Amino acid sequence: MMNRWLVTGAGGMLGRDLVRVLEALNEPVLAATRQDLDITDRFSVRAVVSRYRPTAIVNCAAWTRFHEAETSEAEAHLINGRGARELATICGDRSIRLVHLSTDYVFDGASRRPYAESAATGPINAYGRTKLAGEQAVLELLPDDGTIVRTAWLYGRHGTNFLRKMVRLEQTHKTVDVVDDQWGQPTWSVDLAQQIVALVRHGASGVFHGTSSGETTWYDFARMIFRLLGADPGRIRPVRSDQIAGGELRPRYTVLGHAAWREVGLTPIRHWSAALERSFPLLADEEW
Ligand SMILES: NC(=O)c1ccc[n+]([C@@H]2O[C@H](COP(=O)([O-])OP(=O)(O)OC[C@H]3O[C@@H](n4cnc5c(N)ncnc54)[C@H](OP(=O)(O)O)[C@@H]3O)[C@@H](O)[C@H]2O)c1
Repeated sequence: MMNRWLVTGAGGMLGRDLVRVLEALNEPVLAATRQDLDITDRFSVRAVVSRYRPTAIVNCAAWTRFHEAETSEAEAHLINGRGARELATICGDRSIRLVHLSTDYVFDGASRRPYAESAATGPINAYGRTKLAGEQAVLELLPDDGTIVRTAWLYGRHGTNFLRKMVRLEQTHKTVDVVDDQWGQPTWSVDLAQQIVALVRHGASGVFHGTSSGETTWYDFARMIFRLLGADPGRIRPVRSDQIAGGELRPRYTVLGHAAWREVGLTPIRHWSAALERSFPLLADEEW
């Protein structure tokens, strides 16, 4: 059966690419930006869902201003926690499939091995706490078919992201300081969008880690970006998290395990360096 997709937060980095992927597949999709649909507004959520009658909702809407969440946690919670609850409630009432995006920052970063999907959470910052509240609401209200996809270190054509920042800095700075003591998995938004589509088509539910395979530091990620730009990677200088403002708020190691994909018969997202090489010529055509 073909789905009727509703993408919330469709003006954001992931939302825009997900809508593009769905349109390319000729899947019926309603792309709802924040102006079209505020997920914290119950009446608006109900009105849009009643009108469009989606069979699957992918919630890409979120408060993602990491540092501001520290001083505005209640506002961030309203979107990341309560907004997710509103969507889960209506999905439960109307048997709509919900895929809710979450983050590696629900983990504390103290591990030195990839976090399993079932590993204990323990956010060390406000953003992580609000995102965890969203996860919990979805799993509480949709225990059988709610789906959480935790992603991390996203980059792509749209929005503010590390790759675009490095490309700009390469043009304007002789050297660039980048932290070398945080580990994660750079993930191309298009890879994640395709993985979400595969997941929904497959009918699987539960908690999944929507990140690239492999692991690296921001420093090595930046070096590879410079290499792909034809610039000298020696211009990237390693620094520690405690040398940059707010660095201590970010968990050190948030590499995520991918067992859940294999358990349902799906393949995890490719290695981060293969994705970066593939995405680079496509992204480099764009205005940065
Ligand atoms: N980017 C990353 O590296 C990263 C890492 C881990 C997890 N994630 C998760 O991945 C998902 C997608 O992230 P992203 O990078 O695509 O974020 P993004 O570019 O910031 O997009 C989020 C979108 O949600 C919209 N929004 C905010 N409040 C809303 C509301 N009340 N109702 C409806 N829409 C609202 C925003 O609109 P305005 O711009 O107008 O506010 C924005 O268009 C999020 O769940 C995020 O937490 C992202």
